Amino acid sequence: MVRGVPQLRRYGIERREFLRYLAAVSAIPSLPNLVTGQVVERPTFAANPFTLGVASGDPEPNGVVLWTRLAPRPLEPFGGMPAEAVLVRWEVAADEAFTDIVRSGATPAVPQLGHSVHVEVDGLEPHRWYFYRFHTGPETSPVGRTRTAPAVDVLPERLRFAFTSCQHYEVGYFNGYPHMQQEDLDLVVHLGDYIYEYAGNENRVRKHLGGEINSLNEYRLRYAQYRLDEDLQETHRLFPWLVTWDDHEFDNNYANLVSEEDGVSPEAFLARRMNAYQAYYEFMPLRRRSFPQGPNMTLYRSCRFGRLAEFSMLDTRQYRTDQPNGDHQKPLEGKVFDPRATILGEQQEYWLMATLLQSQATWNVLAQQVMVAPLNRGTPEEGRYSMDQWPGYDVSRRRLLRFLHERRVPNPVVLTGDIHLNWVNDLQLDFADAASPLVGTELVGTSMNNGGNGGNHIEEYERAARQNDFVKWYNSNRGYVSCELTPTSWTSHFRTTPFVDRRGSPLETKATFVIEQGRPGAERA
Ligand SMILES: [Fe+2]
Repeated sequence: MVRGVPQLRRYGIERREFLRYLAAVSAIPSLPNLVTGQVVERPTFAANPFTLGVASGDPEPNGVVLWTRLAPRPLEPFGGMPAEAVLVRWEVAADEAFTDIVRSGATPAVPQLGHSVHVEVDGLEPHRWYFYRFHTGPETSPVGRTRTAPAVDVLPERLRFAFTSCQHYEVGYFNGYPHMQQEDLDLVVHLGDYIYEYAGNENRVRKHLGGEINSLNEYRLRYAQYRLDEDLQETHRLFPWLVTWDDHEFDNNYANLVSEEDGVSPEAFLARRMNAYQAYYEFMPLRRRSFPQGPNMTLYRSCRFGRLAEFSMLDTRQYRTDQPNGDHQKPLEGKVFDPRATILGEQQEYWLMATLLQSQATWNVLAQQVMVAPLNRGTPEEGRYSMDQWPGYDVSRRRLLRFLHERRVPNPVVLTGDIHLNWVNDLQLDFADAASPLVGTELVGTSMNNGGNGGNHIEEYERAARQNDFVKWYNSNRGYVSCELTPTSWTSHFRTTPFVDRRGSPLETKATFVIEQGRPGAERA
């Protein structure tokens, strides 16, 4: 924390203010001493406390994180739970009937963490399905299904996963999820905008409870409202997830300590960030390594699938410098070329490069939020680029691409969310030079539902798709992307749902693209 003080001063925070703030933060108990008083071993509940379902995530060869949260009345403050710690027992079985229980234990669900439970199970066998459930008092949770990762030295025949992002409760339903549930997946990857922070609005398909969220309880209530969506909850029950966030888990287009709105003090913004990050941790199946420390939370991490794939889960929000040139869409000029600007932050960037250098994987996946390819949305004469995406951080972007090229990182594939559209992009070492080598591939997933039914002709993007040579494909439907990786190829099916304003949409596969091992760039199948 102290290391952050000079940086805080840059943003106009006085040391005295900051220390007062730190004192408030330090009142939050740290993980080991959360349980100081009595743990209620045999609680009783007025209603079933497992309304928010179960989830699992961050798989490793020997284990996985199991998640639940006790909330008999999930839309009331504190989920309808008393302010006391309650004992939750858990079981992992090799079979769905729980005749062969392989691991079990007990853990307290504490009010300071909203009675959420994160169990890091180990001692499991690699690359196999398991079933799990929780008990508290007389109540039992739904049975979840999860899968461990393959052993690190094994080259599995295949890995199947789906990725999505940008689910806005008010805009409509999450119609991709029921179809995702039917797929034979090892994993689901979420690239952020899991919730939206905005106030409830009339005349939309569904309505957020309350105003724009700010306090810890408001963030918790928003997550509870989303997780009560049965399609989302069921998809958590069926597969382990790898999650990262984008901006809306906290605040639209934020950059580190800087709000997109003028006049928000960094101190108030940090306090809000602390609430947002804690609620995110509480609701996601994350390991203890991601436990929030005040307004900071280390979410970047890697997940290996034997020698077939390594996922680097990135966080392009928490450590970035402010969007250059006042954000929005601008020509590439001025602060875009600031050598001190960064989108990953120094520490995460070093970690990413070390991870890529050490990787034994055939496919090196960068799962992150904002587009890497420099998409010109303007005209050739008057360029317009998103200052919120990697092109706004030109030095960071070039450094990453040069690293992938010079270090010969095998088969880099960037997964991107954020913009509610599909793009398939070649990643060139130097986009200004048509003869420049390809260093990787970018697959941009559309939104689960934000933006409404979609599929309409958007002239700005039609033109961008034509005039940016690296674009292989563009699409404006809603949905998700389903990927199958083998040692020789990566196949991506771009699944779309024609409508989201009511439930029950059919599924279409708009396009399929294949990347051959050793040859960057996707080709339409
Ligand atoms: Fe979004």
